[in-house]
Amino acid sequence: MVGCVRRMRSLRLSKFFAVASPLVLIHGLHALAAPEQDPAAWGSNHVGQPVPEYEDGNTCLFCHRTSIGPSWQTEKHATTIRALAEESNAEQLKQKASGAEFVFGRGPKFRFLKPTGAYGTFSLFDASWSPKDKEWSGEERWDAAKFGANCAGCHASGVDSVEKTFQMPSLDCHTCHGLAVPEHAEDGTLMLLSKKGKTPAGVEVSICGSCHLRGGKSKSTGLPFPNNFVPGDNLFKDFDLDLSDERISQESPSDAHIFRIARDVAVFGLNDVTCTTCHDVHGESEKKHVQMPRRAICFVCHTQNEPLTTMPTEKRQNVTCEY
Ligand code: HEC
Ligand code: HEC
Ligand code: HEC
Ligand code: HEC
Ligand code: HEC
Ligand code: HEC
Repeated sequence: MVGCVRRMRSLRLSKFFAVASPLVLIHGLHALAAPEQDPAAWGSNHVGQPVPEYEDGNTCLFCHRTSIGPSWQTEKHATTIRALAEESNAEQLKQKASGAEFVFGRGPKFRFLKPTGAYGTFSLFDASWSPKDKEWSGEERWDAAKFGANCAGCHASGVDSVEKTFQMPSLDCHTCHGLAVPEHAEDGTLMLLSKKGKTPAGVEVSICGSCHLRGGKSKSTGLPFPNNFVPGDNLFKDFDLDLSDERISQESPSDAHIFRIARDVAVFGLNDVTCTTCHDVHGESEKKHVQMPRRAICFVCHTQNEPLTTMPTEKRQNVTCEY
Protein backbone atom coordinates (compact mmCIF):
# COMPACT_ATOMS: atom_id res chain seq x y z
CA MET A 1 0.00 0.00 0.00
CA VAL A 2 2.03 2.92 -1.17
CA GLY A 3 0.72 6.24 -2.39
CA CYS A 4 -2.66 7.75 -1.94
CA VAL A 5 -4.05 7.10 -5.38
CA ARG A 6 -4.61 3.44 -5.76
CA ARG A 7 -5.84 1.10 -8.42
CA MET A 8 -9.63 0.98 -8.68
CA ARG A 9 -12.45 3.24 -7.75
CA SER A 10 -12.90 7.00 -8.09
CA LEU A 11 -16.46 6.06 -8.78
CA ARG A 12 -18.74 8.14 -6.71
CA LEU A 13 -22.02 6.53 -5.85
CA SER A 14 -23.98 9.35 -7.42
CA LYS A 15 -22.41 8.34 -10.71
CA PHE A 16 -22.99 4.74 -9.80
CA PHE A 17 -26.71 5.31 -9.46
CA ALA A 18 -26.83 7.31 -12.68
CA VAL A 19 -25.46 4.37 -14.67
CA ALA A 20 -27.31 1.71 -12.73
CA SER A 21 -28.40 -1.22 -14.89
CA PRO A 22 -31.65 -3.17 -14.46
CA LEU A 23 -29.78 -5.60 -12.21
CA VAL A 24 -28.81 -2.83 -9.90
CA LEU A 25 -32.26 -1.34 -9.99
CA ILE A 26 -33.88 -4.64 -9.15
CA HIS A 27 -31.55 -5.13 -6.26
CA GLY A 28 -32.07 -1.54 -5.21
CA LEU A 29 -35.85 -1.89 -5.34
CA HIS A 30 -35.67 -5.15 -3.51
CA ALA A 31 -33.69 -3.46 -0.81
CA LEU A 32 -36.07 -0.52 -0.68
CA ALA A 33 -39.11 -2.80 -0.77
CA ALA A 34 -37.79 -4.89 2.10
CA PRO A 35 -39.40 -3.65 5.29
CA GLU A 36 -37.02 -1.34 7.08
CA GLN A 37 -35.89 -2.49 10.49
CA ASP A 38 -34.78 -0.40 13.41
CA PRO A 39 -31.05 -1.24 13.52
CA ALA A 40 -31.05 -0.73 17.29
CA ALA A 41 -33.94 -3.13 17.95
CA TRP A 42 -32.00 -6.25 19.02
CA GLY A 43 -29.37 -6.94 21.66
CA SER A 44 -27.68 -4.76 24.24
CA ASN A 45 -24.44 -2.91 24.92
CA HIS A 46 -21.91 -2.03 27.62
CA VAL A 47 -22.40 1.72 27.94
CA GLY A 48 -21.92 2.77 31.56
CA GLN A 49 -20.31 -0.55 32.55
CA PRO A 50 -16.62 -0.99 33.37
CA VAL A 51 -14.27 -1.86 30.51
CA PRO A 52 -13.89 -5.67 30.69
CA GLU A 53 -10.60 -7.27 31.76
CA TYR A 54 -9.67 -8.57 28.35
CA GLU A 55 -7.34 -11.48 27.88
CA ASP A 56 -4.04 -10.47 26.35
CA GLY A 57 -3.45 -11.64 22.78
CA ASN A 58 -0.25 -13.40 23.85
CA THR A 59 -2.39 -15.70 25.98
CA CYS A 60 -4.53 -16.52 22.96
CA LEU A 61 -1.45 -17.07 20.82
CA PHE A 62 -0.02 -19.52 23.33
CA CYS A 63 -2.66 -21.95 22.02
CA HIS A 64 -3.23 -20.43 18.58
CA ARG A 65 0.42 -19.88 17.64
CA THR A 66 0.49 -22.27 14.69
CA SER A 67 -2.60 -21.10 12.81
CA ILE A 68 -2.75 -17.41 13.75
CA GLY A 69 0.70 -16.59 15.18
CA PRO A 70 2.79 -16.37 12.00
CA SER A 71 0.53 -13.98 10.06
CA TRP A 72 -0.37 -11.95 13.18
CA GLN A 73 3.12 -10.42 13.41
CA THR A 74 2.53 -8.32 10.31
CA GLU A 75 -1.29 -8.26 10.19
CA LYS A 76 -2.54 -4.71 9.71
CA HIS A 77 -4.91 -4.66 12.71
CA ALA A 78 -2.12 -5.96 14.92
CA THR A 79 0.32 -3.34 13.62
CA THR A 80 -1.90 -0.32 13.06
CA ILE A 81 0.32 1.43 15.63
CA ARG A 82 3.93 0.31 15.33
CA ALA A 83 7.38 1.26 16.60
CA LEU A 84 8.81 4.17 14.63
CA ALA A 85 12.26 2.60 14.95
CA GLU A 86 11.14 -0.07 12.48
CA GLU A 87 10.74 2.46 9.65
CA SER A 88 13.79 2.70 7.42
CA ASN A 89 13.83 6.50 7.58
CA ALA A 90 13.04 6.73 11.31
CA GLU A 91 15.97 9.02 12.11
CA GLN A 92 15.00 11.50 9.42
CA LEU A 93 11.35 11.50 10.56
CA LYS A 94 12.37 12.07 14.18
CA GLN A 95 14.17 15.28 13.21
CA LYS A 96 10.72 16.88 12.86
CA ALA A 97 8.57 14.67 15.06
CA SER A 98 11.07 14.91 17.85
CA GLY A 99 10.45 12.43 20.67
CA ALA A 100 8.11 10.29 18.54
CA GLU A 101 8.19 6.58 19.40
CA PHE A 102 5.28 5.20 17.41
CA VAL A 103 3.78 5.69 13.98
CA PHE A 104 0.39 4.90 12.46
CA GLY A 105 -0.94 5.18 8.92
CA ARG A 106 0.71 3.61 5.92
CA GLY A 107 -0.34 4.81 2.48
CA PRO A 108 -1.67 8.35 2.53
CA LYS A 109 -0.13 9.64 5.73
CA PHE A 110 2.16 8.80 8.62
CA ARG A 111 1.06 10.09 12.03
CA PHE A 112 3.37 10.17 15.03
CA LEU A 113 2.80 9.34 18.69
CA LYS A 114 4.67 9.47 21.95
CA PRO A 115 3.66 8.38 25.45
CA THR A 116 2.53 11.25 27.67
CA GLY A 117 3.75 9.62 30.86
CA ALA A 118 0.20 9.06 32.14
CA TYR A 119 -1.34 5.55 31.88
CA GLY A 120 -2.89 4.61 28.53
CA THR A 121 -2.40 7.90 26.74
CA PHE A 122 -0.42 9.16 23.78
CA SER A 123 0.37 12.61 22.45
CA LEU A 124 -0.36 13.01 18.74
CA PHE A 125 1.88 15.13 16.51
CA ASP A 126 -0.31 17.46 14.48
CA ALA A 127 2.01 17.49 11.47
CA SER A 128 1.89 14.42 9.21
CA TRP A 129 4.29 13.01 6.65
CA SER A 130 3.24 11.77 3.23
CA PRO A 131 5.44 8.82 2.25
CA LYS A 132 4.44 9.24 -1.38
CA ASP A 133 5.13 12.94 -1.80
CA LYS A 134 7.87 12.87 0.84
CA GLU A 135 6.38 16.02 2.32
CA TRP A 136 5.35 17.29 5.73
CA SER A 137 2.07 19.13 6.28
CA GLY A 138 0.33 20.65 9.29
CA GLU A 139 1.49 22.34 12.43
CA GLU A 140 4.54 21.00 14.29
CA ARG A 141 2.93 20.63 17.68
CA TRP A 142 2.28 17.80 20.15
CA ASP A 143 -1.35 17.45 21.27
CA ALA A 144 -1.87 15.44 24.47
CA ALA A 145 -5.67 15.21 24.24
CA LYS A 146 -6.51 14.48 20.63
CA PHE A 147 -5.51 10.84 20.25
CA GLY A 148 -7.53 9.77 23.31
CA ALA A 149 -10.60 11.79 22.34
CA ASN A 150 -10.62 11.32 18.57
CA CYS A 151 -8.60 8.28 17.49
CA ALA A 152 -7.97 5.72 20.24
CA GLY A 153 -11.35 3.97 19.99
CA CYS A 154 -10.47 2.45 16.61
CA HIS A 155 -6.67 2.26 16.70
CA ALA A 156 -6.13 0.92 20.25
CA SER A 157 -7.60 -1.81 22.47
CA GLY A 158 -9.51 -1.73 25.75
CA VAL A 159 -10.47 1.91 25.40
CA ASP A 160 -12.16 3.75 28.25
CA SER A 161 -14.23 6.55 26.70
CA VAL A 162 -14.67 8.34 30.01
CA GLU A 163 -11.01 8.38 31.11
CA LYS A 164 -9.91 8.49 27.45
CA THR A 165 -7.30 5.80 28.04
CA PHE A 166 -6.42 2.52 26.34
CA GLN A 167 -5.05 -0.78 27.62
CA MET A 168 -2.84 -1.42 24.60
CA PRO A 169 -1.98 0.37 21.36
CA SER A 170 -3.04 -1.41 18.15
CA LEU A 171 -5.86 -3.95 17.93
CA ASP A 172 -5.83 -7.10 19.98
CA CYS A 173 -7.83 -10.30 19.43
CA HIS A 174 -10.72 -9.20 21.64
CA THR A 175 -11.60 -6.22 19.42
CA CYS A 176 -13.12 -8.76 17.01
CA HIS A 177 -13.54 -12.01 18.96
CA GLY A 178 -14.71 -10.45 22.22
CA LEU A 179 -14.44 -12.14 25.58
CA ALA A 180 -13.16 -15.72 25.47
CA VAL A 181 -14.73 -18.37 27.68
CA PRO A 182 -12.33 -21.19 28.70
CA GLU A 183 -14.85 -23.81 27.47
CA HIS A 184 -14.26 -22.61 23.92
CA ALA A 185 -11.14 -24.83 23.75
CA GLU A 186 -13.58 -27.78 23.74
CA ASP A 187 -16.14 -26.17 21.51
CA GLY A 188 -14.74 -23.51 19.16
CA THR A 189 -18.22 -22.39 18.11
CA LEU A 190 -18.50 -20.59 21.46
CA MET A 191 -16.21 -17.88 20.01
CA LEU A 192 -17.57 -15.07 17.88
CA LEU A 193 -16.37 -15.25 14.27
CA SER A 194 -15.35 -18.89 14.59
CA LYS A 195 -15.38 -20.75 11.31
CA LYS A 196 -17.94 -23.36 12.32
CA GLY A 197 -20.16 -21.25 14.53
CA LYS A 198 -22.85 -19.05 13.09
CA THR A 199 -22.20 -15.47 14.09
CA PRO A 200 -25.39 -13.58 13.15
CA ALA A 201 -24.90 -11.09 10.32
CA GLY A 202 -25.98 -8.19 12.52
CA VAL A 203 -23.41 -9.12 15.17
CA GLU A 204 -20.63 -9.35 12.59
CA VAL A 205 -21.51 -6.05 10.96
CA SER A 206 -21.61 -4.45 14.42
CA ILE A 207 -18.09 -5.78 15.16
CA CYS A 208 -16.44 -4.68 11.92
CA GLY A 209 -18.58 -1.55 11.78
CA SER A 210 -17.48 -0.49 15.27
CA CYS A 211 -14.34 0.86 13.58
CA HIS A 212 -15.03 0.74 9.86
CA LEU A 213 -18.19 2.85 9.84
CA ARG A 214 -16.26 6.10 10.11
CA GLY A 215 -18.25 9.29 10.47
CA GLY A 216 -20.72 8.35 13.19
CA LYS A 217 -20.67 9.30 16.85
CA SER A 218 -21.48 7.79 20.21
CA LYS A 219 -24.80 9.04 21.56
CA SER A 220 -23.53 8.83 25.14
CA THR A 221 -20.11 10.49 24.76
CA GLY A 222 -20.30 12.43 21.49
CA LEU A 223 -16.92 10.93 20.56
CA PRO A 224 -16.35 9.65 17.00
CA PHE A 225 -16.01 6.03 18.19
CA PRO A 226 -18.30 3.66 20.11
CA ASN A 227 -18.47 3.76 23.92
CA ASN A 228 -17.20 0.51 25.50
CA PHE A 229 -18.25 -1.63 22.52
CA VAL A 230 -17.78 -5.31 23.31
CA PRO A 231 -18.13 -7.75 20.37
CA GLY A 232 -21.58 -9.30 20.58
CA ASP A 233 -23.13 -5.89 21.32
CA ASN A 234 -25.49 -4.09 18.97
CA LEU A 235 -23.39 -1.16 17.70
CA PHE A 236 -26.44 0.87 16.74
CA LYS A 237 -27.81 1.13 20.29
CA ASP A 238 -25.28 3.85 21.09
CA PHE A 239 -23.64 4.69 17.76
CA ASP A 240 -25.41 7.27 15.69
CA LEU A 241 -24.73 6.95 12.00
CA ASP A 242 -26.34 8.34 8.87
CA LEU A 243 -26.89 5.44 6.45
CA SER A 244 -28.87 7.42 3.86
CA ASP A 245 -28.10 7.22 0.11
CA GLU A 246 -27.08 10.85 0.24
CA ARG A 247 -24.53 10.23 2.96
CA ILE A 248 -23.18 7.07 1.34
CA SER A 249 -22.76 8.84 -2.00
CA GLN A 250 -20.18 11.12 -0.39
CA GLU A 251 -17.90 8.20 0.44
CA SER A 252 -15.27 6.80 -1.86
CA PRO A 253 -15.79 3.12 -2.79
CA SER A 254 -13.54 1.71 -0.09
CA ASP A 255 -15.82 3.22 2.54
CA ALA A 256 -19.07 3.21 0.53
CA HIS A 257 -19.11 -0.57 0.14
CA ILE A 258 -18.83 -0.91 3.95
CA PHE A 259 -21.75 1.46 4.56
CA ARG A 260 -23.87 -0.38 1.98
CA ILE A 261 -23.25 -3.81 3.46
CA ALA A 262 -23.93 -2.45 6.94
CA ARG A 263 -27.20 -0.91 5.76
CA ASP A 264 -28.28 -4.02 3.85
CA VAL A 265 -27.88 -6.05 7.03
CA ALA A 266 -28.89 -3.61 9.76
CA VAL A 267 -31.73 -1.76 8.02
CA PHE A 268 -32.99 -4.06 5.25
CA GLY A 269 -32.35 -7.37 7.00
CA LEU A 270 -30.54 -8.81 3.95
CA ASN A 271 -28.21 -11.19 5.72
CA ASP A 272 -26.63 -13.19 2.90
CA VAL A 273 -23.55 -11.02 2.34
CA THR A 274 -21.39 -9.81 5.22
CA CYS A 275 -17.80 -8.58 5.50
CA THR A 276 -16.36 -12.11 5.81
CA THR A 277 -18.14 -13.23 2.64
CA CYS A 278 -15.35 -11.36 0.85
CA HIS A 279 -12.68 -10.67 3.50
CA ASP A 280 -10.42 -13.21 5.12
CA VAL A 281 -9.06 -11.17 8.03
CA HIS A 282 -6.17 -13.42 9.08
CA GLY A 283 -5.23 -14.08 5.49
CA GLU A 284 -5.44 -10.35 4.70
CA SER A 285 -7.10 -11.27 1.47
CA GLU A 286 -10.19 -10.39 -0.55
CA LYS A 287 -9.66 -13.13 -3.08
CA LYS A 288 -12.87 -14.96 -2.11
CA HIS A 289 -14.80 -12.11 -3.64
CA VAL A 290 -13.87 -12.73 -7.28
CA GLN A 291 -15.90 -15.93 -7.35
CA MET A 292 -19.14 -14.37 -6.18
CA PRO A 293 -22.10 -13.93 -8.53
CA ARG A 294 -22.51 -10.35 -9.70
CA ARG A 295 -24.81 -8.21 -7.63
CA ALA A 296 -25.30 -4.50 -6.99
CA ILE A 297 -22.53 -4.24 -4.42
CA CYS A 298 -19.93 -5.20 -7.07
CA PHE A 299 -20.47 -1.97 -8.93
CA VAL A 300 -19.54 0.23 -6.03
CA CYS A 301 -15.98 -0.53 -7.20
CA HIS A 302 -16.22 -2.17 -10.63
CA THR A 303 -17.70 -0.51 -13.68
CA GLN A 304 -21.10 -1.57 -14.89
CA ASN A 305 -21.08 -3.11 -18.41
CA GLU A 306 -17.30 -3.40 -18.45
CA PRO A 307 -15.16 -6.41 -17.66
CA LEU A 308 -14.49 -6.87 -13.95
CA THR A 309 -10.83 -6.28 -14.64
CA THR A 310 -11.60 -2.59 -15.22
CA MET A 311 -10.77 -0.74 -12.04
CA PRO A 312 -11.08 2.98 -11.55
CA THR A 313 -8.56 4.74 -9.32
CA GLU A 314 -9.53 6.18 -6.00
CA LYS A 315 -8.09 9.04 -4.08
CA ARG A 316 -7.97 7.79 -0.52
CA GLN A 317 -9.54 10.28 1.82
CA ASN A 318 -11.30 10.30 5.16
CA VAL A 319 -12.32 13.15 7.44
CA THR A 320 -12.34 11.15 10.71
CA CYS A 321 -8.77 10.00 10.12
CA GLU A 322 -7.53 13.33 8.74
CA TYR A 323 -6.25 12.03 5.42
C1 HEC B 1 -14.39 5.26 13.94
C2 HEC B 1 -13.10 4.64 13.96
C3 HEC B 1 -11.87 5.47 13.69
C4 HEC B 1 -11.48 6.63 14.31
C5 HEC B 1 -12.23 7.41 15.35
C6 HEC B 1 -10.20 6.98 13.73
N1 HEC B 1 -9.82 6.04 12.82
FE1 HEC B 1 -8.17 6.11 11.63
N2 HEC B 1 -8.77 4.40 10.68
C7 HEC B 1 -9.90 3.69 10.98
C8 HEC B 1 -10.04 2.58 10.06
C9 HEC B 1 -11.16 1.57 10.06
C10 HEC B 1 -8.94 2.66 9.17
C11 HEC B 1 -8.64 1.74 7.99
C12 HEC B 1 -9.29 2.27 6.74
C13 HEC B 1 -9.01 1.51 5.47
O1 HEC B 1 -8.07 0.71 5.42
O2 HEC B 1 -9.75 1.73 4.49
C14 HEC B 1 -8.17 3.83 9.60
C15 HEC B 1 -7.00 4.26 8.98
C16 HEC B 1 -6.27 5.34 9.39
C17 HEC B 1 -5.04 5.76 8.78
C18 HEC B 1 -4.32 5.02 7.71
C19 HEC B 1 -4.72 5.17 6.34
C20 HEC B 1 -3.83 4.26 5.49
O3 HEC B 1 -4.38 3.51 4.72
O4 HEC B 1 -2.61 4.29 5.66
C21 HEC B 1 -4.60 6.88 9.44
C22 HEC B 1 -3.35 7.71 9.17
C23 HEC B 1 -5.57 7.15 10.47
N3 HEC B 1 -6.58 6.20 10.42
C24 HEC B 1 -5.46 8.20 11.36
C25 HEC B 1 -6.42 8.49 12.32
C26 HEC B 1 -6.32 9.62 13.22
C27 HEC B 1 -5.18 10.62 13.24
C28 HEC B 1 -7.45 9.60 13.99
C29 HEC B 1 -7.87 10.60 15.05
C30 HEC B 1 -7.80 11.99 14.68
C31 HEC B 1 -8.25 8.45 13.56
N4 HEC B 1 -7.57 7.80 12.57
C32 HEC B 1 -9.48 8.11 14.08
C33 HEC B 1 -10.81 3.96 11.99
C34 HEC B 1 -10.81 5.10 12.76
C1 HEC C 1 -9.99 -7.50 12.84
C2 HEC C 1 -10.72 -8.60 13.41
C3 HEC C 1 -9.97 -9.76 14.01
C4 HEC C 1 -8.95 -9.72 14.93
C5 HEC C 1 -8.34 -8.51 15.56
C6 HEC C 1 -8.61 -11.11 15.20
N1 HEC C 1 -9.41 -11.94 14.48
FE1 HEC C 1 -9.37 -13.98 14.54
N2 HEC C 1 -10.79 -14.04 13.06
C7 HEC C 1 -11.43 -12.95 12.53
C8 HEC C 1 -12.38 -13.40 11.54
C9 HEC C 1 -13.30 -12.51 10.72
C10 HEC C 1 -12.28 -14.81 11.48
C11 HEC C 1 -13.06 -15.76 10.60
C12 HEC C 1 -12.20 -16.38 9.54
C13 HEC C 1 -11.45 -15.37 8.72
O1 HEC C 1 -12.08 -14.54 8.08
O2 HEC C 1 -10.19 -15.41 8.73
C14 HEC C 1 -11.26 -15.18 12.45
C15 HEC C 1 -10.85 -16.48 12.70
C16 HEC C 1 -10.05 -16.87 13.76
C17 HEC C 1 -9.75 -18.23 14.13
C18 HEC C 1 -10.26 -19.47 13.44
C19 HEC C 1 -9.72 -19.62 12.06
C20 HEC C 1 -8.36 -20.23 11.93
O3 HEC C 1 -7.70 -19.88 10.91
O4 HEC C 1 -7.95 -21.04 12.76
C21 HEC C 1 -8.93 -18.19 15.22
C22 HEC C 1 -8.34 -19.38 15.97
C23 HEC C 1 -8.70 -16.79 15.52
N3 HEC C 1 -9.39 -16.01 14.61
C24 HEC C 1 -7.93 -16.33 16.56
C25 HEC C 1 -7.54 -15.01 16.71
C26 HEC C 1 -6.51 -14.57 17.63
C27 HEC C 1 -5.76 -15.49 18.58
C28 HEC C 1 -6.39 -13.23 17.49
C29 HEC C 1 -5.39 -12.29 18.14
C30 HEC C 1 -4.00 -12.70 18.11
C31 HEC C 1 -7.37 -12.82 16.48
N4 HEC C 1 -8.03 -13.92 16.03
C32 HEC C 1 -7.60 -11.51 16.09
C33 HEC C 1 -11.23 -11.63 12.88
C34 HEC C 1 -10.25 -11.17 13.74
C1 HEC D 1 -5.81 -23.02 26.43
C2 HEC D 1 -5.70 -22.87 25.00
C3 HEC D 1 -6.48 -21.75 24.35
C4 HEC D 1 -6.46 -20.41 24.67
C5 HEC D 1 -5.69 -19.68 25.76
C6 HEC D 1 -7.31 -19.75 23.69
N1 HEC D 1 -7.84 -20.68 22.82
FE1 HEC D 1 -9.05 -20.32 21.27
N2 HEC D 1 -9.28 -22.31 20.92
C7 HEC D 1 -8.55 -23.29 21.54
C8 HEC D 1 -8.90 -24.58 20.97
C9 HEC D 1 -8.31 -25.94 21.37
C10 HEC D 1 -9.88 -24.33 19.98
C11 HEC D 1 -10.56 -25.33 19.05
C12 HEC D 1 -11.82 -25.86 19.65
C13 HEC D 1 -12.52 -26.81 18.67
O1 HEC D 1 -11.84 -27.73 18.18
O2 HEC D 1 -13.68 -26.62 18.41
C14 HEC D 1 -10.08 -22.88 19.98
C15 HEC D 1 -10.96 -22.22 19.12
C16 HEC D 1 -10.96 -20.85 18.93
C17 HEC D 1 -11.70 -20.15 17.91
C18 HEC D 1 -12.61 -20.79 16.88
C19 HEC D 1 -11.77 -21.51 15.85
C20 HEC D 1 -12.49 -22.00 14.64
O3 HEC D 1 -12.32 -23.16 14.30
O4 HEC D 1 -13.17 -21.23 13.98
C21 HEC D 1 -11.42 -18.83 18.03
C22 HEC D 1 -11.96 -17.69 17.18
C23 HEC D 1 -10.53 -18.70 19.15
N3 HEC D 1 -10.27 -19.94 19.68
C24 HEC D 1 -10.02 -17.48 19.59
C25 HEC D 1 -9.30 -17.33 20.78
C26 HEC D 1 -8.96 -16.05 21.35
C27 HEC D 1 -9.32 -14.70 20.75
C28 HEC D 1 -8.30 -16.31 22.51
C29 HEC D 1 -7.76 -15.32 23.51
C30 HEC D 1 -8.74 -14.38 24.05
C31 HEC D 1 -8.19 -17.74 22.62
N4 HEC D 1 -8.82 -18.32 21.57
C32 HEC D 1 -7.54 -18.39 23.66
C33 HEC D 1 -7.63 -23.11 22.56
C34 HEC D 1 -7.34 -21.91 23.19
C1 HEC E 1 -11.20 -2.06 16.76
C2 HEC E 1 -11.26 -1.50 15.41
C3 HEC E 1 -11.43 -2.44 14.24
C4 HEC E 1 -12.26 -3.54 14.14
C5 HEC E 1 -13.21 -4.12 15.18
C6 HEC E 1 -12.07 -4.05 12.80
N1 HEC E 1 -11.16 -3.29 12.12
FE1 HEC E 1 -10.47 -3.62 10.24
N2 HEC E 1 -9.15 -2.11 10.44
C7 HEC E 1 -9.08 -1.25 11.53
C8 HEC E 1 -7.98 -0.31 11.33
C9 HEC E 1 -7.55 0.80 12.26
C10 HEC E 1 -7.38 -0.67 10.10
C11 HEC E 1 -6.19 -0.01 9.46
C12 HEC E 1 -4.95 -0.80 9.79
C13 HEC E 1 -3.74 -0.14 9.19
O1 HEC E 1 -3.50 -0.34 7.99
O2 HEC E 1 -3.04 0.53 9.93
C14 HEC E 1 -8.16 -1.80 9.57
C15 HEC E 1 -7.91 -2.42 8.36
C16 HEC E 1 -8.75 -3.33 7.75
C17 HEC E 1 -8.60 -3.83 6.41
C18 HEC E 1 -7.51 -3.45 5.42
C19 HEC E 1 -6.25 -4.14 5.76
C20 HEC E 1 -6.29 -5.58 5.46
O3 HEC E 1 -6.24 -6.38 6.42
O4 HEC E 1 -6.38 -5.96 4.28
C21 HEC E 1 -9.64 -4.70 6.19
C22 HEC E 1 -9.96 -5.46 4.92
C23 HEC E 1 -10.41 -4.76 7.42
N3 HEC E 1 -9.83 -3.92 8.35
C24 HEC E 1 -11.54 -5.54 7.60
C25 HEC E 1 -12.15 -5.75 8.84
C26 HEC E 1 -13.20 -6.71 9.08
C27 HEC E 1 -13.82 -7.62 8.05
C28 HEC E 1 -13.54 -6.60 10.40
C29 HEC E 1 -14.55 -7.41 11.18
C30 HEC E 1 -14.35 -8.84 11.20
C31 HEC E 1 -12.69 -5.58 10.98
N4 HEC E 1 -11.86 -5.10 10.01
C32 HEC E 1 -12.74 -5.16 12.31
C33 HEC E 1 -9.89 -1.26 12.62
C34 HEC E 1 -10.76 -2.28 12.95
C1 HEC F 1 -18.62 -8.09 -2.15
C2 HEC F 1 -17.36 -8.27 -1.46
C3 HEC F 1 -17.06 -7.39 -0.27
C4 HEC F 1 -17.83 -7.19 0.86
C5 HEC F 1 -19.19 -7.78 1.18
C6 HEC F 1 -17.07 -6.33 1.72
N1 HEC F 1 -15.88 -6.00 1.12
FE1 HEC F 1 -14.45 -4.77 1.86
N2 HEC F 1 -13.45 -4.87 0.08
C7 HEC F 1 -13.71 -5.76 -0.92
C8 HEC F 1 -12.71 -5.63 -1.93
C9 HEC F 1 -12.62 -6.48 -3.18
C10 HEC F 1 -11.83 -4.62 -1.53
C11 HEC F 1 -10.68 -4.02 -2.30
C12 HEC F 1 -9.38 -4.50 -1.81
C13 HEC F 1 -8.26 -3.74 -2.52
O1 HEC F 1 -8.32 -2.50 -2.55
O2 HEC F 1 -7.37 -4.41 -3.03
C14 HEC F 1 -12.32 -4.16 -0.24
C15 HEC F 1 -11.72 -3.18 0.53
C16 HEC F 1 -11.97 -2.99 1.89
C17 HEC F 1 -11.20 -2.16 2.77
C18 HEC F 1 -10.02 -1.31 2.39
C19 HEC F 1 -8.82 -2.20 2.35
C20 HEC F 1 -7.56 -1.45 2.10
O3 HEC F 1 -6.71 -2.05 1.43
O4 HEC F 1 -7.44 -0.31 2.56
C21 HEC F 1 -11.75 -2.28 4.02
C22 HEC F 1 -11.28 -1.60 5.27
C23 HEC F 1 -12.90 -3.16 3.89
N3 HEC F 1 -13.00 -3.57 2.60
C24 HEC F 1 -13.72 -3.52 4.93
C25 HEC F 1 -14.96 -4.16 4.77
C26 HEC F 1 -15.94 -4.31 5.82
C27 HEC F 1 -15.78 -3.83 7.24
C28 HEC F 1 -17.01 -4.96 5.26
C29 HEC F 1 -18.33 -5.31 5.92
C30 HEC F 1 -19.14 -4.20 6.40
C31 HEC F 1 -16.68 -5.21 3.87
N4 HEC F 1 -15.44 -4.71 3.62
C32 HEC F 1 -17.48 -5.88 2.97
C33 HEC F 1 -14.79 -6.60 -0.99
C34 HEC F 1 -15.84 -6.64 -0.09
C1 HEC G 1 -14.54 -2.62 -2.44
C2 HEC G 1 -14.29 -2.70 -3.88
C3 HEC G 1 -14.73 -3.96 -4.61
C4 HEC G 1 -15.95 -4.56 -4.58
C5 HEC G 1 -17.18 -4.20 -3.76
C6 HEC G 1 -15.88 -5.65 -5.52
N1 HEC G 1 -14.64 -5.71 -6.08
FE1 HEC G 1 -13.95 -7.11 -7.38
N2 HEC G 1 -12.10 -6.30 -7.32
C7 HEC G 1 -11.75 -5.19 -6.59
C8 HEC G 1 -10.32 -5.00 -6.70
C9 HEC G 1 -9.51 -3.88 -6.04
C10 HEC G 1 -9.83 -6.02 -7.55
C11 HEC G 1 -8.39 -6.26 -8.00
C12 HEC G 1 -7.57 -6.86 -6.90
C13 HEC G 1 -8.06 -8.19 -6.48
O1 HEC G 1 -8.07 -9.13 -7.29
O2 HEC G 1 -8.45 -8.33 -5.30
C14 HEC G 1 -10.99 -6.82 -7.92
C15 HEC G 1 -10.92 -7.92 -8.75
C16 HEC G 1 -12.02 -8.66 -9.16
C17 HEC G 1 -11.98 -9.74 -10.11
C18 HEC G 1 -10.74 -10.25 -10.81
C19 HEC G 1 -10.51 -9.43 -12.04
C20 HEC G 1 -9.24 -9.88 -12.70
O3 HEC G 1 -8.22 -9.21 -12.51
O4 HEC G 1 -9.27 -10.92 -13.34
C21 HEC G 1 -13.25 -10.22 -10.24
C22 HEC G 1 -13.73 -11.36 -11.14
C23 HEC G 1 -14.08 -9.44 -9.36
N3 HEC G 1 -13.31 -8.50 -8.72
C24 HEC G 1 -15.44 -9.63 -9.20
C25 HEC G 1 -16.22 -8.95 -8.29
C26 HEC G 1 -17.59 -9.27 -8.00
C27 HEC G 1 -18.37 -10.38 -8.69
C28 HEC G 1 -18.01 -8.41 -7.05
C29 HEC G 1 -19.36 -8.35 -6.38
C30 HEC G 1 -19.78 -9.58 -5.71
C31 HEC G 1 -16.90 -7.52 -6.73
N4 HEC G 1 -15.85 -7.89 -7.51
C32 HEC G 1 -16.93 -6.52 -5.78
C33 HEC G 1 -12.59 -4.38 -5.87
C34 HEC G 1 -13.91 -4.68 -5.57
